[in-house]
Amino acid sequence: MMTTLKFRNNDEMPILGLGTFRSEPNEVYNAVLSAIKIGYRHIDCAAAYGNEKEVGNAIAEAIKQDLVTREDLWVTSKLWNSSHGEENVVPALNQTLEDLQLDYLDLYLVHWPVALKKGTEMPEKASDFIPLSEVPLTNTWKGMEAALEQGLAKHIGVSNFNENQLKAIMATAAHQPEMNQVEMHPFLQQEALKSFCVQNDILLTAYAPLGSLGDENTTLRLLENDTIINIADSRSMSPAQVALAYTMQRGIAVIPKSINEARLLQNLETLNHTLTEEDIALLRDLDKGHRFIDGKFWEVENGPYTADSIWNA
Ligand SMILES: NC(=O)c1ccc[n+]([C@@H]2O[C@H](COP(=O)([O-])OP(=O)(O)OC[C@H]3O[C@@H](n4cnc5c(N)ncnc54)[C@H](OP(=O)(O)O)[C@@H]3O)[C@@H](O)[C@H]2O)c1
Repeated sequence: MMTTLKFRNNDEMPILGLGTFRSEPNEVYNAVLSAIKIGYRHIDCAAAYGNEKEVGNAIAEAIKQDLVTREDLWVTSKLWNSSHGEENVVPALNQTLEDLQLDYLDLYLVHWPVALKKGTEMPEKASDFIPLSEVPLTNTWKGMEAALEQGLAKHIGVSNFNENQLKAIMATAAHQPEMNQVEMHPFLQQEALKSFCVQNDILLTAYAPLGSLGDENTTLRLLENDTIINIADSRSMSPAQVALAYTMQRGIAVIPKSINEARLLQNLETLNHTLTEEDIALLRDLDKGHRFIDGKFWEVENGPYTADSIWNA
């Protein structure tokens, strides 16, 4: 199993990282510290998760305990939607760096191709949004490039961008996006987006690589799928390990979230397993284009965004 993904300048990102979405502030400190203790070197954060201060405390404690140096770690964070616009990027990143107690990020991403008014965490009404016609993604990207040029982020990229949105920023970029972080797992394989990214030297990170488990409205539980369970049983792996291994063997990074020590270890130990061609063929057939994070939360009455416009426009 490959263990890192290589950027254009040969910097290497560990292919398996720790997710921190929906980890409560009091839980995330222990999760991050335990994860670093057992060997995680890649942490996926975001201002929007409301827990960067606690993640920062855990990273600082790990460095203080000599478990790692800053250079050993790969830390990613994301620009929230209420800080789109060239002039807002560096100030938002500075807040994230202060919260994480870091001088630089390894990777900074535009979280969504959706703009919100300053101060809006989650939108409730149309006037909470700014249409992209008013703050184009190319304008926000200029702020991301400034962050890169100032050394505040070593690499810059995007998240939840479709092919056309990537093309739009690539057409005018002085620094090309190097990462697209999107939902990916055996039920959502995104082969077309993957091909486009590979052709354009854009790496991919899979979020919700275990199917997120946060959506109570779905009966489609990834880790309860028979094919995944059968492969897991035959290879002495867990269903989660099968899901993670499949995505990593496609050359895509994974950032499973856990706050549980046994599951943190189990997820990391996926790196000790390799699926066979036969397993991979069976898993490839599970694709059903199913999104657990469906983007419908960006739809409000008379609002400027729809899930369909985000994924397909
Ligand atoms: N860019 C974006 O827009 C975006 C969107 C969503 C997520 N993300 C990032 O991607 C990360 C991962 O996505 P996610 O948190 O939505 O979902 P996920 O990692 O697919 O699933 C997390 C869920 O799986 C459970 N779990 C973890 N390991 C397990 C195992 N070995 N067996 C069974 N259950 C297990 C976790 O519970 P326990 O904690 O109890 O183990 C949690 O309920 C996020 O944390 C975040 O960093 C980014």
